[in-house]
Amino acid sequence: MLALASLSGAADAAWARHGAPFADLAFLGGLALDAESRAAARDLVARGREEFLPDDPLSFADAQLAALAGAPIRPGLNVRSATVDPIRAAATVCARHDAVVEINAHCRQAELCAAGCGETLLRDADRLARYVAAAAETGATVSVKVRTEIDGVDLPATARRVAAAGADIVHVDAMDSEPVVADVAAVTPDTRVLANNGVRDRETAWEYLAYGADGVSVGRPSDDPAVIRRVARAVDDWDRRAAEPPTADRRDGRVLE
Ligand SMILES: Cc1cc2nc3c(=O)[nH]c(=O)nc-3n(C[C@H](O)[C@H](O)[C@H](O)COP(=O)(O)O)c2cc1C
Repeated sequence: MLALASLSGAADAAWARHGAPFADLAFLGGLALDAESRAAARDLVARGREEFLPDDPLSFADAQLAALAGAPIRPGLNVRSATVDPIRAAATVCARHDAVVEINAHCRQAELCAAGCGETLLRDADRLARYVAAAAETGATVSVKVRTEIDGVDLPATARRVAAAGADIVHVDAMDSEPVVADVAAVTPDTRVLANNGVRDRETAWEYLAYGADGVSVGRPSDDPAVIRRVARAVDDWDRRAAEPPTADRRDGRVLE
């Protein structure tokens, strides 16, 4: 599985369509849903970052997902909220479009963290689990975007918790700690693990797949066809190799080349 990872202010339906020939899944957003996260997003825009800030986030989500109807790529939507009800509402919209709702427990900007969104959710596993359960109740496929290298956060334990709450995908930004993907995969056998950060070619994709990831995602170069074509080919080759019998032909106890 190859996914395109959210880029706030840039990852919209048109962006997803560009990646459709290569990727399986595209996470639109992130989209701030409630008053607190929207205020934080406005502060981010004020200091020069790009953000989606439509008047009505749910109508925007509905229209963006509708624009991908029939496209050969499954849509997802990365969402931020300080409270659970907007997550449930966004998941309901996603379920209607067979889109994956992705709970953002990842963004680290101070404004979003002060509002109780993004990576602060990793320090508040009870609230994160409530978000996941509420989203899963709608029937939507649920992903949780997480990151490593946060003091005091045991990421495999958090992953196990969100899996138990009903997450279908754990999307791990491994930062510079790539082997953490193996630790997460080991404790979430029934949940797909999507590995992210620095995936650009065969070597970087296969490293994560060898750690047990079910797929990889590409963020910053997701608008570069050369990169996503290269990574898509690497993922296909990996899956093909995994499906094939061993290449060496064992007969009479001997390995024939
Ligand atoms: C400008 C920018 C905006 C981003 N916005 C989001 C976001 O809204 N939600 C999210 O989960 N990740 C967001 N990310 C993180 C990316 O999805 C990805 O996890 C990160 O860039 C590492 O992957 P990469 O090395 O393939 O870029 C953003 C990254 C960048 C550079």
